[in-house]
Amino acid sequence: MRAAACKAIPGPLMKTYRIALIPGDGIGQEVVPAAVRVLEAAAQGFRFEFVPFEWGCEYSLRTGRMMPEDGLETLRPFDAILLGAIGYPTVPDHISLRDLLLRIRFGFDLYVNLRPIEILPGLEPALRSKSARDINMLFIRENSEGEYCGLGGRFKRGTADEVAIQQSVFTRKGTERIIRYAFEQARRRPRKRLASATKSNAMQYTMVLWDEVLRKVARDYPDVTVANYHVDALAARMITHPETLDVVVASNLFADILTDLGGALQGSLGLAASANLNPTERLGPPMFEPVHGSAPDIAGQGVSNPLATIWAASLMMEHLGEPATGARILAALHAVTGEGKIRTPDLGGKSTTQEFTDAVISKL
Ligand code: NAD
Ligand code: IPM
Ligand code: MN
Repeated sequence: MRAAACKAIPGPLMKTYRIALIPGDGIGQEVVPAAVRVLEAAAQGFRFEFVPFEWGCEYSLRTGRMMPEDGLETLRPFDAILLGAIGYPTVPDHISLRDLLLRIRFGFDLYVNLRPIEILPGLEPALRSKSARDINMLFIRENSEGEYCGLGGRFKRGTADEVAIQQSVFTRKGTERIIRYAFEQARRRPRKRLASATKSNAMQYTMVLWDEVLRKVARDYPDVTVANYHVDALAARMITHPETLDVVVASNLFADILTDLGGALQGSLGLAASANLNPTERLGPPMFEPVHGSAPDIAGQGVSNPLATIWAASLMMEHLGEPATGARILAALHAVTGEGKIRTPDLGGKSTTQEFTDAVISKL
C-alpha cells in the first residue's frame, strides 16, 4: 500500500473546523468565496466543513426576514462565522443591519471588535509624508453597547413636532471589559502604548464614565503608556502623527468612524479586516469579516478587493488555535502585495478578484 504523498487523507479522526459562511450582499458574494478558496488551500493537518447561509437582503425580499428567527441557535454550534457584507439598497439599512449583523454581534455578546490598521508590503501609505512603518495601529472597538444599543423611539411621527430619540448605553461592566482588553493588547506589543477616544468635553455622562474607567484600569497596567484624546483630535492625529498611535480603544460609533479612516490610511477600504470576539465567555462563535460594506457601486463586476476578507480569514485561523496557518495566509497576502504585480482597481490596478485570489493561493 502506498502512503499518501503530501496532504493527509481526511478521515473521521482528522480535526475539522465547522465554519458558517454568511456572504451576504453585494461584494460579500465575491469576497467570501475568495477567502474560502484560500482557506481550503491553506488547510494542513485539519480540514474545514463550510456551511453556507443565504441570509441577507435577497433572502429578506423572499421571506420577510434577514435571517430565520432561530438563526442564532443555528449558528451557535459552529466554530466560527465568516461574513462578507450586509446591506443593499433594496432593504433599508437600519433594518437589514440590525436584523442580521448587529443581531449576531449583540446576540453572542461579541464585545471586542479587533481591527488592525497596517500598511502591507509594496503598498504606498495614502499619506505621502509618512512611511509604512509610521502606520501600525490596532483598534479595539467596543462592540456590544454604546451608541449602537438601539434604544429610542420616534414621537409624533411625520408631524412638524416630531421627536426622535436615540439613546447611548455605557455600562461600567461594558466599558471596563473593553478597556481592560485593550490594555492587555497594548502590553503585548513592543511599543506598549494605548490611546483612548473620549469626548468628555461635550458628553458629560457616558464619556466621563469612560474616562473614569480608563484611569482606574490604567492603575493595573503601569507598563503601558496611556493617552486619552478627544475623538475629534484623535481623528486629526491619525493623519498628522499616526506614528504616535499603537493600540486605540474607542466606543462602538467612534471606532466605526475611525476605522474607515484607518482603511483609507491603508490605501483602500478593501484592505481593512476585523474580528468580533468574546474573549471571556462563549455565548456563540466568534465572527470574522472585512470592515467594508457591500459596495453596491462595484458589486457583480468581479473586481472587488478580497484582501480584507482573506486577512479576516487569517485572523480566524489565529483565533481557532491554528496560528501557523493564519501566519501563512498573511505571508501569502504580503508576498502578493509586495510583488506589486496584482492590484485590484481600488488600488489603481486592473486585476480581478479571482486573479488576486489565485495569486495568493500560488504563494501558500
Ligand atoms: P462600502 O464599504 O460598501 O463602500 C464604500 C466605498 O468603498 C465604495 O466606493 C466601494 O466601492 C469601496 N469598497 C469597499 N469595499 C471594497 C472592496 N473590497 N474592494 C474595492 N472597493 C471597495 O460602504 P457604503 O457604500 O457606505 O455601504 C454600502 C452598504 O454596505 C450599505 O448598505 C451599508 O450599510 C453596508 N455596510 C455593511 C457593512 C457590513 O456588513 N459589515 C459594513 C459597512 C457598510
Ligand atoms: C462596520 C459597519 C457596521 C457598523 C454597520 C454596517 C452597521 O459599518 O462593521 O464597520 O457600523 O458596525
Ligand atoms: Mn463601519
